[in-house]
Amino acid sequence: MRESSGDNPGADLASPAIHLSGLTKHYGSTVALAGLNMTVPRGEVFGFLGPNGAGKTTAVRLMLGLARASSGEGMVLGFPLGSLEARRRIGYLPELFRYQGWLRAGEVLRLHCELAGIERGSRRSEIQSALELVGLDGRSEDHVDTLSKGMQQRLGLAVALLGKPDLVLLDEPTSALDPVGRHDVREVLRALKRRGVAVFLNSHLLSEVEQICDRVAVVDHGRVVAEGSLPQLLAGPRVRIQCSDLGPEALAGLARFGASHFAEGWLTVRGLPRDRVPALVSAVVAAGGQIQVVDPGQQTLEERFLELVGDKE
Ligand SMILES: Nc1ncnc2c1ncn2[C@@H]1O[C@H](COP(=O)(O)OP(=O)(O)OP(=O)(O)O)[C@@H](O)[C@H]1O
Ligand SMILES: [Mg+2]
Repeated sequence: MRESSGDNPGADLASPAIHLSGLTKHYGSTVALAGLNMTVPRGEVFGFLGPNGAGKTTAVRLMLGLARASSGEGMVLGFPLGSLEARRRIGYLPELFRYQGWLRAGEVLRLHCELAGIERGSRRSEIQSALELVGLDGRSEDHVDTLSKGMQQRLGLAVALLGKPDLVLLDEPTSALDPVGRHDVREVLRALKRRGVAVFLNSHLLSEVEQICDRVAVVDHGRVVAEGSLPQLLAGPRVRIQCSDLGPEALAGLARFGASHFAEGWLTVRGLPRDRVPALVSAVVAAGGQIQVVDPGQQTLEERFLELVGDKE
């Protein structure tokens, strides 16, 4: 039976939801993970961001025991990676999944209740509450192939929620959803958080991660390159100026305003207080820059992400 750790004296509630230490995974000569270190406390919504091929899905597969680490170690909910005790308490939404089109939504959920070993007597209520939580209430008799892509993704999410897991691993849960669907998934994740469930979210959708995650790790080439809460991760205030090309000399002359760089028609200056923006604008004009847009504000996660992983390919 899949039990919440509250019912199980064997589970150590003081242990983090996820703790990975020096985890590596090699596929032949490909290094999918190159020493992954990461800790996710219980009850946190944690975003795992990285470009294609960075190792996000591999990390999730190791946490589930679907693949074995080449070296390193890790604990999930206080149990070793891949152990049955850990797996019983994890909900999982795979990246690319497809249920049989001829199954009804309710049948998919019943099948997964069986696979997860959920007691017969509680299956009906488990299924009902999962369907309600993902907004598929009343669709249980529909065949999978009559559900839209987004509804199928919600069904996948419902499967991941069966058995009241303590940790849910979601590999790109909103990739097929429209903005309303994405909003709904965020609401589901918030509801899970209120229940103390830890959520580990692989995502490319940076704005989404910004809206929902307590903390974020950015992974690139199998390693965490930055980790923290969003305020910790983002560099604070910055001003961006869209202008004509500035040469190295002009840029050197702007150094007094703070760390600056020019790329793709945008000058970015870090850490500049608002009241110095007019002086910077004057200096850019004096250096021969023709200004189109001035955008003062907080660095976005997308800007930070591109700084961390953008230019290395
Ligand atoms: N079963 C496998 N056999 C061989 N190589 C693999 C296997 N699984 C993953 N890899 C390789 O490991 C690296 C990491 O892949 P992974 O799927 O973890 O990336 P990802 O961050 O999830 O990417 P995406 O954003 O595209 O889903 C890639 O180079 C990939 O080709
Ligand atoms: Mg992936």
